[in-house]
Amino acid sequence: MKRLIVVSNRVTPGDESNASAGGLAVAMLAALKKRGGLWFGWNGEICQSRDTDPEVMKTGNLTFATIPLPEQDIELYYNGYANRSLWPLFHYRTDLTLFDHRFFESYLRVNSLFTAKLAPLLKEDNLIWVHDYHLIPMGQYLRDAGITQPMGFFLHTPFPAMEILLTLPNHEYIVKSLCAYDLVGFQSASDLRAFHDYIVHEAGGEILEDGVVRAFGRTLIARVFAISIDTKTIAQQSVRAAHTKAIDRLTESLDERVLVIGVDRLDYSKGLAQRFRAFERLLENYPENRNKVVFLQIAPPSRTDVPEYTDIRHELETLAGNINGHFAEFDWMPIRYLNKGYTMQRLAGFYRASRVGLVTPLRDGMNLVAKEFVAAQNPTDPGVLVLSRFAGAAQELGEALIVNPFDVDDLSDAMQRAITMPLEERRERWGAMMETLTKNDISTWRDNFLTELERAPATLEGG
Ligand code: UDP
Ligand code: G6P
Repeated sequence: MKRLIVVSNRVTPGDESNASAGGLAVAMLAALKKRGGLWFGWNGEICQSRDTDPEVMKTGNLTFATIPLPEQDIELYYNGYANRSLWPLFHYRTDLTLFDHRFFESYLRVNSLFTAKLAPLLKEDNLIWVHDYHLIPMGQYLRDAGITQPMGFFLHTPFPAMEILLTLPNHEYIVKSLCAYDLVGFQSASDLRAFHDYIVHEAGGEILEDGVVRAFGRTLIARVFAISIDTKTIAQQSVRAAHTKAIDRLTESLDERVLVIGVDRLDYSKGLAQRFRAFERLLENYPENRNKVVFLQIAPPSRTDVPEYTDIRHELETLAGNINGHFAEFDWMPIRYLNKGYTMQRLAGFYRASRVGLVTPLRDGMNLVAKEFVAAQNPTDPGVLVLSRFAGAAQELGEALIVNPFDVDDLSDAMQRAITMPLEERRERWGAMMETLTKNDISTWRDNFLTELERAPATLEGG
């Protein structure tokens, strides 16, 4: 088996502080644990000089090699280009994008730094797999450095519709850079469609058979690989968690009330304001839920140096405060709003204790929380998933209650339907989703991508 080299901006710290690291870190740790390999990326720290060597740490068959970044690049590349230009754009928020030439220069500088620090660690028989919007140019940089090994890229976020992407000043550079990889993976069919659209209508390229794409004088394969979770492990964790003191305390505090849960990084893409308003509407339109339902929203702060994240945090504080102020009783608080993260073990117990899981992003590449919620349910008395049609997960989990998160009335009606859904219907819907997640778990995702990547050079030669 070839040695796998994974490259991403965020690398899991692999301990309790992982509690809010996001989907990429959670998924890649699960994917790498069994297969092993090298994981290269940013260690989250600041450095003074760009000449720092990677810090290498081994645990079992997995090696971490991480580097710090100069403060200026953290500001311009990470807070800037990655999280004020690409992130909002890829999530269809052109109203929030900010473009600045210094952001883009720093983005290229960091991609070139990653390349220079990774290249000496590479061997002949390696498979290289680069992840997410932070590192799109790295493939071309590695090629320029003489690296000839098969090279794949996976985009964890949505790929935006062409008209949205065209608002990015460097759109051509970004798409051309993607085409330097042998294999590019997207989360869902709509992302691949958007990529094809750009290739054909903007780049004048061609879409051939077997996922082969020709553009910018390059040939590559582009396909959908829907990322997933370690279904079996989460199901087991949730059974274990059900017998912990924390879950006893949670159950006691609910005093037989129904628990509705949301778990999201504190990000404007997650639709939290609309979700809070829909919960308020539920209490207005279906007053029988007053003092009978508790909404637990876990929202660990994320990218706290980016102003748009401070804004959404303030908005949610105001909303939660107003709703609680209006509806609360001396013995009932409708919304428990927590700005802190929990470990997967804890979350698995919370999911299982909940009757309803709210996963209502305005736009999301996949959304692993949706899958985790399903995996953690009690088969004899499962909860109901309310899922945004704009999350990649909706393309696989059609048996959830699918909603339009922009429509607050639709969302509050779906909450009511979920709260009152008969057991038999809950079991049927859950059974079908669990079957999907058992078949398509994180190992299937990893193996499908890597099999295709190993085959890519031959496919491309024939194509
Ligand atoms: N997560 C966690 N602790 C928390 C909140 C979230 O471990 O307190 C994990 C969650 O279980 C999931 C990931 O962070 O695995 C979030 O991934 P998702 O795809 O839902 O969204 P992202 O944060 O990547 O946008
Ligand atoms: C999303 C992105 C990841 C990112 C994660 C957490 O899942 O797709 O690339 O790592 O959010 O965000 P952060 O900025 O803390 O790495």
